[in-house]
Amino acid sequence: MLTSRYIARAYLVPLDKTKRSIGMADRDVGDGTAESLILPKEDLNGWRKRWEEGRTAWHKTTVDPVLEKRIGLIEDGCGGGLSILVPMCGRSLDLLWLCSRGHSVTGVEISSIAVGELFTDNSIPFTSIESGPFTIYKATDRDLNVLCGDVFNLDTSYAGPFDVIWDCNAIVAINADDRERYVKAELSVLKEGGRILMTTWVYEQSIHLRFPLCVSPEMVEKLFAAQCDVRVVENIVLPNDSHFCQRHELPWAIRPVLFLNRKELVQ
Ligand SMILES: C[S@@+](CC[C@H](N)C(=O)[O-])C[C@H]1O[C@@H](n2cnc3c(N)ncnc32)[C@H](O)[C@@H]1O
Repeated sequence: MLTSRYIARAYLVPLDKTKRSIGMADRDVGDGTAESLILPKEDLNGWRKRWEEGRTAWHKTTVDPVLEKRIGLIEDGCGGGLSILVPMCGRSLDLLWLCSRGHSVTGVEISSIAVGELFTDNSIPFTSIESGPFTIYKATDRDLNVLCGDVFNLDTSYAGPFDVIWDCNAIVAINADDRERYVKAELSVLKEGGRILMTTWVYEQSIHLRFPLCVSPEMVEKLFAAQCDVRVVENIVLPNDSHFCQRHELPWAIRPVLFLNRKELVQ
């Protein structure tokens, strides 16, 4: 059944009224629609603040099940030794799991709290150095680096090029009008023939969350088509009573899993 919030949105009640009447403070913004002009977009300070205040409900205490299930696509028969980038990594345990499989792993994350917790909570010894716009945290007991800074500053003078990118809850956290720039940053550090495993979110189009934004496979295809072959591996359907739908008050949601192969340059 539709809640008053969905009904309000579906009929486009002016957003300030909607916000006041149904308590949406600090939650929602559009992704290129008229509403997104009214509410502030997510910015770097907003993300840092989420970490300061512990508003990190997306963080999982396990390895992402999609990564575990689809690791074969990434590894493609090789038993380790890949260079893997995890953009906007938070303090995801995926980084450690990929390391444990013998890969060289690099994360990028804006929040120094997230990066600090990743290392200290998992008792990983590290050193850190300043390098241009990044502070680079380097584990001394495994092949793990985390660049603390803005993902838009990525280029091969700081890290990469990489064989693989694991884009998990990352492109969906980028404001709609920054997506092309984000794709450019990712591709600037991905090798020719490199692969991207990506998950996004799709949900009722009339609902505009601040995060995660709705990014359909069609949008991904459009953003990457010039440089990558894009394939939808799976559409994971989350029912109304799933934790994700309940948390965001969504009637349904789909988590598409995409696999992108960067085209080789024709000489
Ligand atoms: C939704 S969380 C996902 C974290 C992780 N990928 C996961 O699935 O647990 C998005 C993360 O991106 C970080 N972030 C947001 N904008 C960023 C930027 N421009 N550069 C680097 N990190 C950023 C946030 O601090 C946050 O930790």
